[in-house]
Amino acid sequence: MFSLPQFALALFFPVAFADPIHVPLTRRSSGNRDINYYISAAKHLQDKYSITGKPYSPHGKRASSVSIQTINLEEDYEYLAPVSIGTPPQSFNVILDTTLSDLWVADTSCTSCNSTTPLFAPSKSSSITSANADANIPYIAGNVTGTIAQDVVSMGNFTVQNQTFCMLTPAMMAVDHLPDGFLAGSASGIMGLAFSAVSITRSTPFWQALGSQLAAPEMAFYLTRFNGDSSAKEEEPGGVFTLGGTNSTLFTGDIEFLNMPSGTPTFWLLTMSAITVQGQSVQITAGNAALSVFDTATPVIGGPTAGVNAIWAAVPGSAAVVDYPGFFSFPCSTSVQVTLSFGGKAWPINATDMNAGPISNGSSQCFGAIIDIGLASNSSSGSGNPSWVIGDTFLKNVYSVFRANPPSIGFAQLSSVAGGSGERESSTRITLPVMMTTTMMAVMCLL
Ligand SMILES: *[C@@H]1O[C@H](CO)[C@@H](O)[C@H](O)[C@H]1NC(C)=O
Ligand SMILES: *[C@@H]1O[C@H](CO)[C@@H](O)[C@H](O)[C@H]1NC(C)=O
Ligand SMILES: *[C@@H]1O[C@H](CO)[C@@H](O)[C@H](O)[C@H]1NC(C)=O
Ligand SMILES: *[C@@H]1O[C@H](CO)[C@@H](O)[C@H](O)[C@H]1NC(C)=O
Ligand SMILES: *[C@@H]1O[C@H](CO)[C@@H](O)[C@H](O)[C@H]1NC(C)=O
Ligand SMILES: *[C@@H]1O[C@H](CO)[C@@H](O)[C@H](O)[C@H]1NC(C)=O
Ligand SMILES: *[C@@H]1O[C@H](CO)[C@@H](O)[C@H](O)[C@H]1NC(C)=O
Ligand SMILES: *[C@@H]1O[C@H](CO)[C@@H](O)[C@H](O)[C@H]1NC(C)=O
Repeated sequence: MFSLPQFALALFFPVAFADPIHVPLTRRSSGNRDINYYISAAKHLQDKYSITGKPYSPHGKRASSVSIQTINLEEDYEYLAPVSIGTPPQSFNVILDTTLSDLWVADTSCTSCNSTTPLFAPSKSSSITSANADANIPYIAGNVTGTIAQDVVSMGNFTVQNQTFCMLTPAMMAVDHLPDGFLAGSASGIMGLAFSAVSITRSTPFWQALGSQLAAPEMAFYLTRFNGDSSAKEEEPGGVFTLGGTNSTLFTGDIEFLNMPSGTPTFWLLTMSAITVQGQSVQITAGNAALSVFDTATPVIGGPTAGVNAIWAAVPGSAAVVDYPGFFSFPCSTSVQVTLSFGGKAWPINATDMNAGPISNGSSQCFGAIIDIGLASNSSSGSGNPSWVIGDTFLKNVYSVFRANPPSIGFAQLSSVAGGSGERESSTRITLPVMMTTTMMAVMCLL
């Protein structure tokens, strides 16, 4: 099981939300391609595959969707799905991350990887094109480097023939660069599910490159809950990731779609409109300070100082945790009831998800799963950067749908098949809610 403070400190605090970081692509002396090459390559791929451009229909296949069974890693820490890369295909499990736009995979040069981690062998793929250049990327507690390549990539039964991805170098895998357990279990990399505008490799993300292969420009998640289950194994069934549409067996009632802020889509964003705690409305700052990014690869919720303070002030017996700035604790016996709204319905978070375990062995105070990330950096007004990071604490509680066109995010009640109490659907009582995850570090990798 992961340690919450260690994880979250590594994740949130070194990361600066204040200003976009410009990511340089450095050139190797042996290489003959510079940044303009990638810009033009990305343009070429965008023209070829773009969802706004002319349709791409390989082999005349009909557009479709696929539901992929995922893996729940370490009690809701990450959710993994299988991909294959290369010819012949090499198979891996990758973290589904809605705040990144690139595909990353650890390759065989990673000497510091756990010997159980499957590694991509570029030399064994007959179809790979390696650009032989490094992407230098500000990442969690420092920069990391990787080699950009193109190869055949498949997920579900969808294939992109020449997908750009990043092979992680050993430096990236160094323990001091990654939160504990980041590539734990069978995870070999990350599949980014945000938009091309924030691609570090300046390429079209896999899901966007699928273009008209997809029946609908949508991705949907049902995420399982193993938080607090002491019998949970390192890897458990993670739920269902649907690419190209939704899976109607997993939700009941309508999907309530909420439009994203206008402008070129970057991350999956909505504006927080209301929060209740223990049935009481909590005051939050509106406008830019309410901008929220949805992150399937973060197990918690992060927010600005004032809003997070107000949330915990509404829970009797709560206190700031002295040794862990930004964290709050509350009496473990308290059922913390929180709902979030993003302009529509109020979606409740199961109290199990609000409890991140005792602050020390045997303590009667438990960590709360909503953390103050304003201590690291408060988003300056008008910066366009999100103040809230809405991770799996919320996303486990809803069926979530990420729709590219029109850019919007939808929520629906989970069906009983998906662990929700679908039969109790009613307009007044919304049972269970929430869903996704991710690592929020990419939030600042704006090009
Ligand atoms: C894949 O893309 C790269 C970079 O644009 C290019 O050099 C290579 O020829 C392409 N390969 C195929 C098979 O299209
Ligand atoms: C929807 O999800 C269920 C549960 O995982 C699965 O059995 C079913 O095959 C999926 N439906 C489609 C059309 O993929
Ligand atoms: C990361 O890269 C940036 C840009 O190249 C550089 O300014 C910065 O010093 C690097 N940081 C570290 C910790 O190496
Ligand atoms: C993917 O599988 C589904 C269900 O088996 C099928 O309907 C669809 O045509 C397939 N899509 C592609 C692109 O092969
Ligand atoms: C390597 O991974 C296995 C399986 O996830 C785990 O049990 C083991 O502790 C890991 N080893 C190290 C050194 O992290
Ligand atoms: C909250 O989650 C727990 C654990 O998954 C589950 O047993 C319980 O039924 C859920 N509560 C509600 C109100 O759905
Ligand atoms: C935690 O406390 C239990 C008893 O309360 C004890 O058996 C266990 O060894 C303790 N674990 C650690 C890591 O101190
Ligand atoms: C963010 O704002 C809070 C007060 O709302 C302040 O305590 C904190 O120091 C600020 N963080 C930074 C990095 O300036």
